[in-house]
Amino acid sequence: MPQDTLDRAFLDRLRDAEPQLNALIDQFSEARVLVAGDLTLDEFLTGEVERISREAPVVILRHESTRQIPGGGANAVYNLAKLGAQVTVAGIIGADIQGEALRSIFQAAGIDTAGIVVDRDRPTVTKTRISGHARQSVTQQMVRVDRKSDAPPPNAVSQKLAAFIADHAPSAQAVVCSDYGDGVFSAATIAAALTHTRTIVDAQAGLDRYQGATIFTPNLPEAELASGIAIVDTASLQQAGEALLTLTGAQHILITRGDDGMTLFDRDGEVHHVPAFNRTDVFDVTGAGDTVAATLTLAMCSGATLWEAIVLGNLAASLVVRHFGTATTSQAELKTALTTLLE
Ligand SMILES: Nc1ncnc2c1ncn2[C@@H]1O[C@H](COP(=O)(O)OP(=O)(O)OP(=O)(O)O)[C@@H](O)[C@H]1O
Ligand SMILES: [Mg+2]
Repeated sequence: MPQDTLDRAFLDRLRDAEPQLNALIDQFSEARVLVAGDLTLDEFLTGEVERISREAPVVILRHESTRQIPGGGANAVYNLAKLGAQVTVAGIIGADIQGEALRSIFQAAGIDTAGIVVDRDRPTVTKTRISGHARQSVTQQMVRVDRKSDAPPPNAVSQKLAAFIADHAPSAQAVVCSDYGDGVFSAATIAAALTHTRTIVDAQAGLDRYQGATIFTPNLPEAELASGIAIVDTASLQQAGEALLTLTGAQHILITRGDDGMTLFDRDGEVHHVPAFNRTDVFDVTGAGDTVAATLTLAMCSGATLWEAIVLGNLAASLVVRHFGTATTSQAELKTALTTLLE
């Protein structure tokens, strides 16, 4: 497999690129991005164990806190905004308090929510983790409650989304599709997104539906699923990358490989490997892929080469994996992290 440590040659290349990378990060706040995404609300309810119930053999928790954070495609949206971009979101929520929570989190971050369509017949996709702790003891998850619908959204909702995307794509510098398989991505919405010449697709499955997109960012299992190739060594990684370029007609395929970093395959045959920048303070890798997609999108909007874009994506991922749950980072944090990496 491609070497996965930060060797001297890589660090030298990074050092040469440092001024340019910093200039690109500064440009992030000029970027205008439209994100179509399967939106999720992540909820964390925590309480202290009080006693055993008399109704059933279950623990009773005394509620302490509820935390709500954007998840799934909403995490990609939130990451873009926290990185300084001007973001417009298109997606679906239900007519419920979870949907309203998501909308207010977005609005507080300055995100344009005009493209969020309310479908009265489905819940906002929500994952609620209930965790408890005994007095002065560690907190652990006890159960997770998911709200979601397996039915595709009605045609009217898909048409409304597609029309919004088609209307707003021309004024954006990039369109991001964050597809978690929850119903936003119909043939109509995909076609509307692909009218743009710079499209970034982060999809769990069905990559071939996005023919001709600029770049796909599958993680390792997604790349294996889409290519039908088990990635076990350098040769099979290469085969999978090439197979995905053929399958999707994309300009670039970026396979994110967890603690092995990421590998970029270009249509012209070039391959770039970037090792994970931080493998010691890893706390929770949830949502790191969304951060990669968001950051490389902004780098591309700022005129970066693809190598610069994936290096910045990787840098951002190295920061969010230090935090619990999905997380975001900022222009200032990226710059500090770059300096620290090169010290
Ligand atoms: N264990 C880890 N150690 C160091 N870096 C990591 C680790 N896991 C992930 N990363 C960083 O995050 C990037 C993306 O991770 P990964 O391939 O797991 O994405 P993902 O599975 O799509 O994530 P998600 O779908 O939860 O957003 C990696 O390329 C790497 O830079
Ligand atoms: Mg992912």
